[in-house]
Amino acid sequence: MVDLQYFPLPGASINEIDTPAIVVDLDVAEANIARLQAFGDANGTSIRPHSKTHKSPVFARKQIEAGAIGICCAKVGEAEAMVAGGVKNILIPNQVVGSTKITRLVALASEANIVVAADDPDNVEQLSAAASGVGKEIGVIVEVNVGMNRCGTEPGEDTTALARVITDSPGLRFDGVMGYEGHTVAVRDESERRANAELAMNTLLSAVDSIEAAGMPVNVISASGTGTYNITGTMDRITDLQCGSYIFMDGDYLEVFQDFKPALTVLATVISRPTSDRAVLDTGMKAMSIDRGLPIVVDVPGAQYTSISEEHGVMVVEGDAQRLKVGDKIQLRPMHGDTTINLHSHYFGVRNGKMDSVIEIAGRGRFR
Ligand SMILES: Cc1ncc(COP(=O)(O)O)c(C=O)c1O
Repeated sequence: MVDLQYFPLPGASINEIDTPAIVVDLDVAEANIARLQAFGDANGTSIRPHSKTHKSPVFARKQIEAGAIGICCAKVGEAEAMVAGGVKNILIPNQVVGSTKITRLVALASEANIVVAADDPDNVEQLSAAASGVGKEIGVIVEVNVGMNRCGTEPGEDTTALARVITDSPGLRFDGVMGYEGHTVAVRDESERRANAELAMNTLLSAVDSIEAAGMPVNVISASGTGTYNITGTMDRITDLQCGSYIFMDGDYLEVFQDFKPALTVLATVISRPTSDRAVLDTGMKAMSIDRGLPIVVDVPGAQYTSISEEHGVMVVEGDAQRLKVGDKIQLRPMHGDTTINLHSHYFGVRNGKMDSVIEIAGRGRFR
């Protein structure tokens, strides 16, 4: 890519980064990693961060160096990018369906410990045929529907029966269960979030009881998002937390709580000042997702991002913010970080406002 040559060198001011660009404060991201890990260590719960938030083996390795037991990947393509970047323990807390993806999944088992979720006996049969056909073994966990009503078997007979199918399938190792309480993680009211998450986790644990009563050991009981880390993570028997967003904390999650600090912004340039109360940025919906709302302008009191088009963002500026001029750079906090970083090829890592390193978003766009 031609514009790689223009990437600023370490030590350069943040203002030398060309825009639109994703900027990560590495000290803040590392402090978030350390904080969740310390929480897990104190509560006897392993951390298995979801890499969908950063899609980068560099950040995954930071999480593992801090003590994480491995990482989660939403898709086989993401897992391939992580394994290529040196990550050796992968859980796909999602269904891998179809012979093309299953073949790729099994191929990864030569280089890494692979565990995948399943909620369907035919899918399990295909996983088994593919793994045993090439003499490999992969771990499988049953995904249980804990109330999100997305994927997952209903707790009870369906779940226990699927655990039995996995246990009896050559090439597969029955590892346990997962249940993602995604319907609770962003509930703003803490007591409501707690009540909903505990209900969801009790559903998961009742499924575990049934499987164990049928004589199958359940080693993995995996759950949690960032918003429920301190609820799910303090419940007995939950073995590991799949939190992802905590590493960067986007605008939406900051409305839930501020236990972790914001590390990610999109750097933008003012490209037009057509009137005293309007400043136009070079950063629109091709550089920043708006599925959870328009971004927050960071540290420019009086400036508000009010409308967006493909390559432009319009800010209304009042008071001090009216000093903004063409060429000025400002930072925006996207409301949804995961979908925003998926639009970019690189992070610009900074420390104390100075360039530190450029980090490839290797899993970007790898949704197959
Ligand atoms: C299966 C699964 N686990 C965990 C998470 C954790 O997400 P977060 O920490 O962003 O709430 C997600 C988010 O989409 C998910 O789909």
